[in-house]
Amino acid sequence: MNATAAVAAAVVPAAGRGERLGPGAPKALRELGGVPLLVHAVRALARSRAVGLVVVAAPPGGEAEVAALLDSHGLDGKDVRVVAGGATRQESVRLGLAAIPAGTEIVLVHDAARPLVPVDVVDAVAAAVRAGAEAVVPAVPLADTVKRVASATTPGGPEPVLDTPERATLRAVQTPQGFRRDTLHEVHQKALAEEADGALPPVTDDAGLVERYGGQVVVVPGHEEAFKVTRPLDLVLAEAVLARRRASDGF
Ligand code: CTP
Ligand code: MG
Repeated sequence: MNATAAVAAAVVPAAGRGERLGPGAPKALRELGGVPLLVHAVRALARSRAVGLVVVAAPPGGEAEVAALLDSHGLDGKDVRVVAGGATRQESVRLGLAAIPAGTEIVLVHDAARPLVPVDVVDAVAAAVRAGAEAVVPAVPLADTVKRVASATTPGGPEPVLDTPERATLRAVQTPQGFRRDTLHEVHQKALAEEADGALPPVTDDAGLVERYGGQVVVVPGHEEAFKVTRPLDLVLAEAVLARRRASDGF
């Protein structure tokens, strides 16, 4: 692998509406400490020496606004490009991936909704791909016990429990997830072909596609601050984490 190929490109899906966060601007543009979540997320990637290019998949039609927003914030001189995202996260990632130059060997995919991921996690994921893994996910142990349930037999009624996987074997998976570019491209193209008939639901993480087509995914340690801003309480927690960082190191 030559020096240029060893530098990863990152795809940032940022085209979601953020329905679980409630009414307001698209989630990626909602502010944390006065700065949009997306800007935090792109900065977190740009801070890593492992990342050379960041491609953002913006809400369709919002590309110019997102590009201007990113331009107006300092991003460590990294190359940042904006493309239109799609109707699902999976489609947004596929469209972002299409904008990555040939010759790139390592791709990271990072949710715009994970603004506070520490740079050490970004570095560790990229390093694991560089060391030979085809797909890498950062993950943390679960605090809650998880149960699988079936649909309620009457609408609004209680859901019958099917079983309880042993908690110690479960992990909550975060981003950035890292991939050999060829692997990620191939599984997205296969999924596109297979899903054309609507038989398969889109996946919520890219590693899930690698698993679906028989590839090996490995886990490296994630970080509690890499949590995804999904519901209103997550934004409260993110503000607190950011305030603590700013107080402790002028971040
Ligand atoms: N995403 C995307 N394109 C979509 C849907 C989601 O790029 N069509 C992105 C989101 O912008 C987010 C990431 O995928 O950065 C993770 O998705 P999620 O947390 O589910 O965000 P939203 O889909 O925006 O939120 P919600 O599901 O609550 O509407
Ligand atoms: Mg969503």
